[in-house]
Amino acid sequence: MNSPLLIGTAIVHLQQTDSTNNEAKRCIRENRATNGMVIFTDTQTHGRGQYGNIWHSESGKNLNFSIIFFPALLHAKEQFLLSQTVSIAIVEFLKTKTNLPVSIKWPNDILVNEEKICGILIENNISGSRISESIIGIGLNVRQTDFPSEIKNVTSLQMLGCEVDALDSLLKELLSYLDAYFVKLAQGQYALIRELYLQQLFRYGISAEFYIGNQKVNGIIEGVNETGQLLLRINDELKVFNNKEVVFVIK
Ligand code: BTN
Repeated sequence: MNSPLLIGTAIVHLQQTDSTNNEAKRCIRENRATNGMVIFTDTQTHGRGQYGNIWHSESGKNLNFSIIFFPALLHAKEQFLLSQTVSIAIVEFLKTKTNLPVSIKWPNDILVNEEKICGILIENNISGSRISESIIGIGLNVRQTDFPSEIKNVTSLQMLGCEVDALDSLLKELLSYLDAYFVKLAQGQYALIRELYLQQLFRYGISAEFYIGNQKVNGIIEGVNETGQLLLRINDELKVFNNKEVVFVIK
């Protein structure tokens, strides 16, 4: 494997922490952070998901880590590119593990066979018009096979029957994919990143059911704009939605 250029040049492995995103924040605050540094843990006592949810992960079974990134060139309005870069890197990595369909459910849940295998929680600090620092938290289900009953449509590499290496070597493999795509981001290959994201986008360009509030509608995803809003055609009208305003009907 090539040496990382950026992501994973330093890896800190903690047996336990509250949340690797919180630990990353402490590292930044206490000047212990370097660009591309990864904080990885066996156990999170307060794992955090999107929208203030709890991220459930059984101790020692999954990859839970955060990347600290100082995206010198990115404008605040380009934040969604980070999410797109991370998502496509994870998809490419997972495609080496399974032949089942891997996709990105807008904005950045990673699915295999329509079930969630990975969640991403990105927390950016904005300074003026720039992103001064970004904490990219990734939770990938690896060996867990039991999930709380309220969590639906969930899977793990083991549940999919994939051969699974030791977690630390799996992490390094995944980091090499993230590194390769962050290099493309650093090179300014934004059009390529946006195109790859659309190619992997779940239900892109096909008629499907969604909930808008409590109303079930048929719509076609036509794309995502530069700020990450979803473009959904409903009854011949192109509408723009923010996160949480649209719920996918799955199974
Ligand atoms: C989601 O809700 O889908 C996002 C889940 C993100 C979980 C990861 S695990 C590592 C990092 N630390 C956290 O507390 N959350 C993220």
